[in-house]
Amino acid sequence: MPSAVPQSVVARLTRAAIFLVVTINPGEANGAAVRSLCGDLAPLLRAVGFRDLEGSLSCVTGFGSDAWDRLFGTPKPRDLHPFREIHGRHHAVSTPGDVLFHIRGARMDLCFELATQIMSRLGAAVTVADEVHGFSYFDDRDLIGFVDGTENPLGQGAIDATLIGEEDAAFAGGSYVIVQKYLHDLARWNELPVEHQERIIGRTKLSDIELDDAVKPTCAHNALTTIIENGEQLEIVRDNMPFGDVGKGEFGTYFIGYARSPRRVELMLENMFVGRPPGNYDRLLDFSRAVTGTLFFVPSATMLDDVAAGQAVPSAAGPPAAVLEPEEEPKAKHRSPDGSLGIGSLKERGST
Ligand code: HEM
Repeated sequence: MPSAVPQSVVARLTRAAIFLVVTINPGEANGAAVRSLCGDLAPLLRAVGFRDLEGSLSCVTGFGSDAWDRLFGTPKPRDLHPFREIHGRHHAVSTPGDVLFHIRGARMDLCFELATQIMSRLGAAVTVADEVHGFSYFDDRDLIGFVDGTENPLGQGAIDATLIGEEDAAFAGGSYVIVQKYLHDLARWNELPVEHQERIIGRTKLSDIELDDAVKPTCAHNALTTIIENGEQLEIVRDNMPFGDVGKGEFGTYFIGYARSPRRVELMLENMFVGRPPGNYDRLLDFSRAVTGTLFFVPSATMLDDVAAGQAVPSAAGPPAAVLEPEEEPKAKHRSPDGSLGIGSLKERGST
């Protein structure tokens, strides 16, 4: 059975990103329009990406639970379900979203052009539920001033954290992704003494060094999102991006977390919003409000390529190609500018 090539879930950190979440309008023709785009995403990416070979343009496409039922039916990825909202000390909302396009690049014009091409293909078939243009802020800091992404797993660790393997063999090489758009109350956050902010995050602000366990509270953000199960840390890959609108006083972080099972991210959210133990919640949420929340399944690039208009179910995938040595990678007819197989990329993250 041929290996499934993953989408570029584990891509390099980039300077720019667009997070585009759409819902599919009612009617079979609209579903068919989305299906027919799937196989054309790789050529579109190649066409736009080729205009700047250094631009590292990539696009990850994911599908929500209801959209999967509507577009592809069965079989369905084992753990795909609608995002479960959480009512804890704070509220993690669940908001609509059928398809996610996570577009990353070194330059916003590349991201913008690809988003435009995708939307002009989809036309009236979809409605945009949310569109966020993210930018890299100084040394990969978020707008609360902390470096964000440091403890992301790298290389094989990132692949192991994000790509489905034998546990759901028909969907091997796929991944899950949860997105949440957070708005910060920056005025109140900036009133806090830096030492207080550091205890909320669990790292120093300027130098980004993890606080010693002796001083780090158990409710620190990085403590509550560290989950050890059977002696192993359940890791995810994040590519959060700042965004904002100065005129509206809007300052935000777009959270995006990829994992081979949504349960990992859900456990982290439970710890943040409810607390571990309950009540010992993430104080970052006293200053940051989640205004969206959606879960998507990210099929392998191979599966996405195989989707044709009118086809009900993508063909089953083989084991993920990511576990193969580079020289064993399947040959691509066309390669995108970054040398990957179009939407799929086995590239590691650079600096985090
Ligand atoms: C307002 C939204 C958020 C902000 C501003 C934020 C910011 C940060 C910062 C500054 C760090 C420390 C540096 C690093 O290792 O990246 C961090 C770590 C981390 N965050 Fe967040 N985060 C947010 C939401 C979330 C959410 C919703 C999750 C998961 C559900 C999450 C999971 C993690 C994980 C797993 C770590 C690494 C923990 C470790 O191993 O040390 N974050 N985040």
